[in-house]
Amino acid sequence: MLVPAAVAFANGNGNSADTSLRALAAKQGLRFGTAVDASQLGTNKAYTDIVADQFSVVTAENAMKWESVEPTQGVYNWKDADALVKFAEQHGQVVRGHTLMWHNQLPSWLTTGVGNGTISNAQLRDILHKHVTDEVTHFKGKIWQWDVINEVFANSWETPQADGLNANDFWVQHLGSGIIGDVFRWAHKADPKAVLMYNDYNITGEDGTNVKFQAVYNFVKDLRKQGVPIDGIGEQGHLDTQYGFDAQRYQADLQAYADLGLKVAITEADVRTFVNNSTEQVPTSSLAQFAQPFEFSELLKGCELVSQCISFTAWGVHDGDSWIPGTFQGEGYGLLYDVNMQPKTVYSTLQQDLELAAGTAHHGALGGDK
Ligand code: G3I
Repeated sequence: MLVPAAVAFANGNGNSADTSLRALAAKQGLRFGTAVDASQLGTNKAYTDIVADQFSVVTAENAMKWESVEPTQGVYNWKDADALVKFAEQHGQVVRGHTLMWHNQLPSWLTTGVGNGTISNAQLRDILHKHVTDEVTHFKGKIWQWDVINEVFANSWETPQADGLNANDFWVQHLGSGIIGDVFRWAHKADPKAVLMYNDYNITGEDGTNVKFQAVYNFVKDLRKQGVPIDGIGEQGHLDTQYGFDAQRYQADLQAYADLGLKVAITEADVRTFVNNSTEQVPTSSLAQFAQPFEFSELLKGCELVSQCISFTAWGVHDGDSWIPGTFQGEGYGLLYDVNMQPKTVYSTLQQDLELAAGTAHHGALGGDK
């Protein structure tokens, strides 16, 4: 797709005193993004203003997932997803599409049908083919990057197949490893200009080993050898201050993917820590107030140091709107804005990182096709 020109990219007025994240990131050809709850656009003014002013790329947090777009078989609902795409067009932003094949947030008609045997594996493959083709076609020319496949590799606590895929993944189980390359081919056919990514977490050594990185690296290298149209790797970047983070390994792993001829992107960054309660989300350790911005900064700097890193996306706008408290009991404080939508220390830390790197690297996310 064609990416808007430099001025729109940096947000409207092209004012060099603009210190928004999007404007500062533009100075190194990088896009700075957020996941968006599309239903709040236009209804929540403070939220809408932050999304418009601070970010140059947006991802639908839920609105493009299969259960959202096809809640009843054959009946599409593009309402929220279309609204996000339109919002992005109006604000000089581009869109990351998320996600076409994932084991989670599948429509219940699909999982029920597979579960009770009324949908055979051959039919499941046809249904997936139709889903991928229809969704990519619906948004053709409007999506910059697609997270084509999401989270199919085994974590250390899961059972890997010989090729590193999670043996118990819904799609791997029913359709085998070969489905990965096929879905990339289907997506490419429907929108040849979209940047097609594999998206996952713990794939740059965050869990303390490089086992999952190596599996993804080997698998993707092989896909490229077979001519499968995969363009990039999305490293989600969900961190937790209690585990520490090896920033050197992270950067080296990003670079290794890039050296395969791939683009890379940080797609779902957040850094969680223990908090007093989910309403206020004040860190319980005073050191966490330093660790949280530090680890977020390490995530950004790794991307800045890899010239093939094209975008850096936070997984949500503010702590009151994050998936973290609902999933990790007692944790929160993961994002750039607090529960009152005020910028946190991490916000100014990232501003400084972007200012320091202005003009030093060219990430190529400004202008041109994929
Ligand atoms: O839409 C329903 C609503 O009708 C209902 O009233 C409400 C009651 O719980 O649930 C709503 O659905 C929730 C949905 O988000 C939309 O808000 C689901 O319960 C909830 O589970 C779902 O969570 C999402 C999660 O993916 C599902 O796995 C999070 O918002 C979203 O941030 C999260 O994002 C994932 C990425 O897609 C992939 N990588 C990991 C990341 C974090 O889990």
